[in-house]
This record gives sequence, structure tokens and C-alpha cells, in this order.
Amino acid sequence: MKYVDEITITNKTILLRVDFNVSLNPNHSIADDVRIRQSLPTIELLLKQNNKLILIAHLGEPEKRNSLDSLKPVVERLRKYLPHNKIILIDDFTNARDHFAKQTSHEVFLLENIRFYPGEQANDPVFAKQLAGLGEIYVNDAFSVSHRKAASIVGLPQLLPSYGGLLLKKEITVLDSLMKHPKKPFIAIIGGKKISTKIKFIQKLTAAADYVLIGGGLANTFFAAEGYSVGKSFISKDDISLAKTLLEHTKREHSHLILPSDVLVGKSPDATTSDVRKVQEIRKEEESLDIGPETQALFGKIIDEAGTIVWNGPVGYMENQEFKRGTDFLYYSIANNNHATSVIGGGDTLSAISKKEYLDRITHISTGGGAMLEFIENGTLPGIEALKRQYLN
Ligand code: 3PG
Repeated sequence: MKYVDEITITNKTILLRVDFNVSLNPNHSIADDVRIRQSLPTIELLLKQNNKLILIAHLGEPEKRNSLDSLKPVVERLRKYLPHNKIILIDDFTNARDHFAKQTSHEVFLLENIRFYPGEQANDPVFAKQLAGLGEIYVNDAFSVSHRKAASIVGLPQLLPSYGGLLLKKEITVLDSLMKHPKKPFIAIIGGKKISTKIKFIQKLTAAADYVLIGGGLANTFFAAEGYSVGKSFISKDDISLAKTLLEHTKREHSHLILPSDVLVGKSPDATTSDVRKVQEIRKEEESLDIGPETQALFGKIIDEAGTIVWNGPVGYMENQEFKRGTDFLYYSIANNNHATSVIGGGDTLSAISKKEYLDRITHISTGGGAMLEFIENGTLPGIEALKRQYLN
């Protein structure tokens, strides 16, 4: 597999898959454009080499075309970051032959949300062929979508000479070396809600890491698996037996899976006050919504001493300031450990953290949520394999 900085591509029409799945405010302005910014180096490199770019991206999970999932807000933001180019949104690429025929290298085309077409998610070969017909070369710079077997991820590399972009290269290089040569102690912090989507990741990490710290809704399911009563706390009932199996496994293997010893409880997620409880003492009318101070102190100490830190998922109900303190505390602790290699991934984790200026103190902000988890689990992703296969052909 080759990356775009390992060859020179000039005067070509390039289909560039990027991830512009940005988080939006309720008024549909962009809340966080880190994914757009992270795509710029590849875009700028390919433009400098006099290529015509056709960007392919998605937003949300639309079942059909609708104005709320349009990439229009992304176009505005791209105009700001690429002021010397003309950014044009192609409303329906299947019906814009004239546009493509007349494209100049000064113009950057962005296809409207590729998930408006059912062929994308279905990886329909006819749809992939239609897309491939627009360009001469395919570049994948969308690490965070590369776990999806979609037409624009795994279909196109079968049809066009294909390369990896700079962001894809950066993500793979950092995550790969982190898993292969972690500076010790290696710790992982895993929050969020559902165990089932993270179980293999947790299993893999309990084998590879020195400590795995668990928080968020995920921890509640482990409390239930330990036999504690969790009151009205969110738990994923279907996952209790998975959690039990994992706890038994980690005890057998003597690996360090660390659950919170205390939590912040409230009467409901939008409560304006909270109390601290030991995890064995959660009352029936209460919900566990954040890690408690004793847990913060323990997690903080482990973070201070860590050589490598991977973090995915908030450890509290971050939508409410009252229960966002644990997540903020972990973030500040990670930012203040200046000898560790730190990687934070997942859209929720990134939007949960305050003080964005501290992001500079994190070694790598992965654009991937699910993709980062799957890459750590398997060491590769379907989109990466597709690029390798085409190169072998
Ligand atoms: C993400 O937001 O993690 C990527 O854009 C992939 O989106 P998806 O989970 O909707 O496939």
C-alpha cells in the first residue's frame, strides 16, 4: 500500500474520500471542525500538484436525501480554509456531467452526502462503478470511516489505482506503534455506554495494557455483573453476562481491569445536584452518572504514572455539567502528564472535553471512534485492506 507522499500524482482527477462527519449545533452550524482541519494536508498536497479534486464525504446516517444532512455547512467551512480555491457542492453527481467535464484544477468539487445514495452503504458494485467513472485515481484519507464496507471505502479501490492519504498514514502509524511498542505503564481508559460494541476492544486491552480503567454507563453494567444494586442507573441488560465473563477472565489472567469505587449519583440525568456514593451503596431512586472523588484520585494517580494512555469514551453523563467533572478531570490529568504518549479517540470523547487549548498537549487526537476501536482490536480495517489488495493486483 502506498501513501500520497510516497509517489507524485500530477494533473489527474482524484476521488478523495474524506471524513467530514462533523458534529453540528442544534442550529446546524458546525460545532467542531477538527475532522475538516485534519483533512487539509492531503487536500493541499494534491492541489499543489495540480490535480482536480472530487471530495467524497458523508454526514450522519441518513436513510434518504434530506436537507438536514446536507454537506452545505461543510462547504462554507472549506471555503474558509481553502480561500484560493472555488469550492462547489455537487448536488447530484449522477446528473452533473457538464460540471465534471468543465472542472478546472482551481475548482474543488464536494459531492453531496454520499449516504443519500443507498448504493454507498450497500457497497453496490454498480454504484461504485458510477463513482469511479468520475476520476482517474482514488485516495482514502478517511481513517474514521475505514471500518465501513461501503462503496466509497472498499468498492473504489477495486476499480481505480488507489493510495492512502496523509491522515490515514498518521493514524495508522501512531496507533500501530502504540500497540506494538507502548511505553510502560500502558493504560487504557474506556467509557461510554454499551459494552457490546467495546467488548473485544476491552478484551484486547486487558491483555496488552497494564491497567484498563472503566467508567461511564459501561461501568454500571459491570457493577450489575458484580451483583451490586444500581438503582435507576443506565445499564445495558443484554451485556451483563458479557461483563461477567470479562470480569472472570480478567481475574483468572490477573489483569488489571479497574472499576470505579465510588460514583456521583443524581435523581435523574438532568439533576442539578449530586451526591457521592460507594458503588455498593447506590439507592434505588438514584442513578450513577459520573465517577466519584475517590475514583478520580485513583485514576489520576495511574494516569500520572503512565507512559502510554489510550482514552475512548466519556466517564460520565457529559451532557449535564454536574456530571461532566470526572471526564474533565481525566482530560486535565492526561494533558498534564507530559512524559506519556497519549491518544484520544471518538467523537463523543472529543465533544465532551472542555478547554480545547489543552488538545495540543495530547500526542494524537484520533479522528476515529469505532474505527479506532476496531483498528486496535484487529490491527487493520476493511478500507486499509482494500488499498493493500489493489496494490498487489
Ligand atoms: C464516525 O463518525 O465515526 C465516522 O464518520 C463513521 O460514521 P458512522 O459511525 O456513521 O459510520
